[in-house]
Amino acid sequence: MDTAGYKKANMEAWNELAPRYHRRWVNRVDGPLQSTTSLIRDVGVAEGDAVLDVACGTGLVTKMLVSAVGDAGLVVGADASTSAIRIAKRGNRRALFVNADAENLAFARKFDVITCQYALFFFPDAPRALRGMRRSLKASGRMGIVVHGGRDRVPYYGAILDAAAKYIPDYIPEGTPQLDRYSTKDKLGAEVRSAGFSEVSVRRRTFRYSPGTFESYWRDYLRYVARPIRSKIDALGRARRRELVEEVRRNAEPYTDGDSGVITFPWQVLILTAMR
Ligand SMILES: C[S@@+](CC[C@H](N)C(=O)[O-])C[C@H]1O[C@@H](n2cnc3c(N)ncnc32)[C@H](O)[C@@H]1O
Repeated sequence: MDTAGYKKANMEAWNELAPRYHRRWVNRVDGPLQSTTSLIRDVGVAEGDAVLDVACGTGLVTKMLVSAVGDAGLVVGADASTSAIRIAKRGNRRALFVNADAENLAFARKFDVITCQYALFFFPDAPRALRGMRRSLKASGRMGIVVHGGRDRVPYYGAILDAAAKYIPDYIPEGTPQLDRYSTKDKLGAEVRSAGFSEVSVRRRTFRYSPGTFESYWRDYLRYVARPIRSKIDALGRARRRELVEEVRRNAEPYTDGDSGVITFPWQVLILTAMR
């Protein structure tokens, strides 16, 4: 898939997924979105700051930023998905939202802080997005980024993706940026440094996420994924599909409590902070 094709498909997926993402993840007390508090604290958002939240999605980070900057501050959320922006606007009357591609940021003003949570790996030209973020910061500006750890450190995804890759060769179409392309301190740090940022610091945190039993994990995954992915699973013959499900079950077994059958996955995330 070429870059333009990927970006179009990714936005169609996010326009479909945004309401499900919001319902499924944003109000959970366990799981990866616990990183939001660490991100805002680590990047040092202060009262009165002007903050840009890149790939703001349905507005979780944006909402917490509004509380952190207070009445004297300014928060702008930017996302390429119109349906995510619509949801974000409904829940955040005090922030401004713009429909924008992270690779083409062009703001007339400069910000004290830029945040970008769980999105950098989606940008095919992430270096360009990072350079644009740097240009949008004041000379004393700070940036905070959160990404997922590697597949083995995020078995919620790893258990399914590893199995699906065997049964459905084009499950993730060729040319799609990998979810774990910035999953180590070295890879993430190097990309941010080469965009010109200084004082780059990355720390790892591991959260827990329990999707319930294997049956609810698998059922909720199928309900959540975007149509093009779901249709590839549906296209498998009955026997192959059963084999796929059993392989995912085996992958999830190390995280499954033998008595209750409840799965508890670790979920590693990387939190980066940097100065302009
Ligand atoms: C996993 S969500 C994260 C949303 C939010 N930052 C959060 O932590 O809840 C990823 C978001 O990245 C957005 N996104 C993906 N590619 C983008 C791009 N090129 N420019 C702007 N937003 C993009 C998607 O529309 C989606 O809302």
